[in-house]
Amino acid sequence: MQLTAPLDMHLHLRDGEMLQNIAKASAQTFSGAIIMPNLVPPVSTKEEVIAYKERILAAIGDEKFTPYMTLFFKPSYDKAFLESVRDDITAIKLYPAGITTNSEGGVSGFDVEELRPTLEAMSELNIPLCIHGETNGFVMDREAEFVSIYERLATAFPNLKIIMEHITTKESVAALDKYENLYATITLHHLLITLDDVAGGMLKPHLFCKPIAKRPEDKEALLKVVLEAHPKVMFGSDSAPHPREAKEACGCAAGVFTAPIVLQVLAELFENEDAPLENLQAFISGNAQNIYNVAPLAKTVTLEKKPFTVPSDYNGVVPMYADEEIAYSIKEITYG
Ligand code: DOR
Ligand code: ZN
Repeated sequence: MQLTAPLDMHLHLRDGEMLQNIAKASAQTFSGAIIMPNLVPPVSTKEEVIAYKERILAAIGDEKFTPYMTLFFKPSYDKAFLESVRDDITAIKLYPAGITTNSEGGVSGFDVEELRPTLEAMSELNIPLCIHGETNGFVMDREAEFVSIYERLATAFPNLKIIMEHITTKESVAALDKYENLYATITLHHLLITLDDVAGGMLKPHLFCKPIAKRPEDKEALLKVVLEAHPKVMFGSDSAPHPREAKEACGCAAGVFTAPIVLQVLAELFENEDAPLENLQAFISGNAQNIYNVAPLAKTVTLEKKPFTVPSDYNGVVPMYADEEIAYSIKEITYG
């Protein structure tokens, strides 16, 4: 099985030692990825974007991989600033204040008039807006409650591309077809697990993430649009590494580290569900190319049906399916 130019449209590469430890796990197998800006402090100036990109390129060494950079949304960004940074970024990521890891400087209240100058400028400059769509309500309802905010923004800024990041609910899936300018990324883990897998038996800290995994019917709604390669849906792993000690702790950090196993497990999932390979190709690359208007370098990943035992950790970070056997392995990676 071959996949061409895989893209990960939502990836946490971190910084410092963690960046050095995990960057290659994505850079080897993907042609490019949208890089999340939730560092400490968040990436919010032109200089920070450029310097972070350089650190990423240094960390990946000889791998051929494009980091598509993002800024951390602030309502203070004006048009002159956005024009000056336009060519250095692919999108801007908006976090509700305090909703997840390193999001304290995010947006509170979602007052359209307060956000209007920045969002109109983004719309004019054709800069997509990626949103972590959760309210601060009850944890299982946060994303469904946020749908009305997505709708308000989609209506108020009809020419702004709005990407609902890592959707986990049937309500978000339904919103996709109601508003022309709403798109979505979907992770690997939300296609595979529900809350039962996280907390239904022994607590599984390595599956704890935000948004929390939801109900079986939500997982089914996500699977449906992924397996049929809905043109507004793209793969975004939200692979979010934390050191083992931060996950196996009484205050467990949110995030699932999937980067090293994404393509193998997606291959197995599409095979088990009898879905066409061309749909996997669209989900893993084609749809994102159309939505983001990017032309990734031609990297071809050949997968073979050969069992692979997932390592127990990658430089101190525990991946999803650690120590378990998965059905597909990566055989070869070629260019051109
Ligand atoms: O589980 C998550 N981890 N969800 C997010 O939104 C952020 C991420 C992280 O940065 O660790
Ligand atoms: Zn994320």
